[in-house]
Amino acid sequence: MNISMIAARSLNGIIGSGDKIPWKVRDEQRLFKKITMGGTLIMGRKTFVSIGKALPGRDTIVISRNKNFSSDHCKVCPSLQVAFAEAKKLAKSIFVAGGGEIYKLALPFVKTVHISTIETQAQGDIYFPDFPTKDFILIEERKFESTINYIYQRFERRNQITNLYKT
Ligand SMILES: NC(=O)c1ccc[n+]([C@@H]2O[C@H](COP(=O)([O-])OP(=O)(O)OC[C@H]3O[C@@H](n4cnc5c(N)ncnc54)[C@H](OP(=O)(O)O)[C@@H]3O)[C@@H](O)[C@H]2O)c1
Repeated sequence: MNISMIAARSLNGIIGSGDKIPWKVRDEQRLFKKITMGGTLIMGRKTFVSIGKALPGRDTIVISRNKNFSSDHCKVCPSLQVAFAEAKKLAKSIFVAGGGEIYKLALPFVKTVHISTIETQAQGDIYFPDFPTKDFILIEERKFESTINYIYQRFERRNQITNLYKT
């Protein structure tokens, strides 16, 4: 089963500032919604808490080391490996949806990367991980004009991914 990642970053690679996303771009979230609707989102505990709810129309799996962390609105897993296994059982498209720690952990295992680059130099302290573009092929690119312009790109991995977490 293919695993995708979906993220938005600034020109300087920022994805977050503390627990917030440091920009507001009209309609940019629509793209996220359209791509992920009906699927399963895997996210870190900090991202889940910062969103404050499970997003409608999607299953949510949260990764946390804290055995006491729970929510009625998501499944909590102790590792990425367990999260992938649980997501596979749901038999829906799987999207790794952040934040910085989880993107870094999951990047070696994803087949598809959906990434929007917001055309701004943002201030923040959470970065998208180093993205080895040589391992990926750019399949799709669309430019959007908005309150801040942004470019959506979809990359597919060239080679077989490591089978450590093969699902
Ligand atoms: N721009 C975007 O597309 C985008 C998307 C999503 C999020 N964000 C932003 O990203 C920021 C949050 O990212 P973040 O890096 O601070 O946190 P995060 O990746 O959302 O969550 C980190 C948490 O995940 C759990 N975790 C991490 N590695 C683990 C492992 N190996 N095993 C088990 N659990 C593990 C831990 O939870 P416990 O502490 O509970 O153990 C850790 O504190 C926010 O600013 C958010 O707004 C941006």
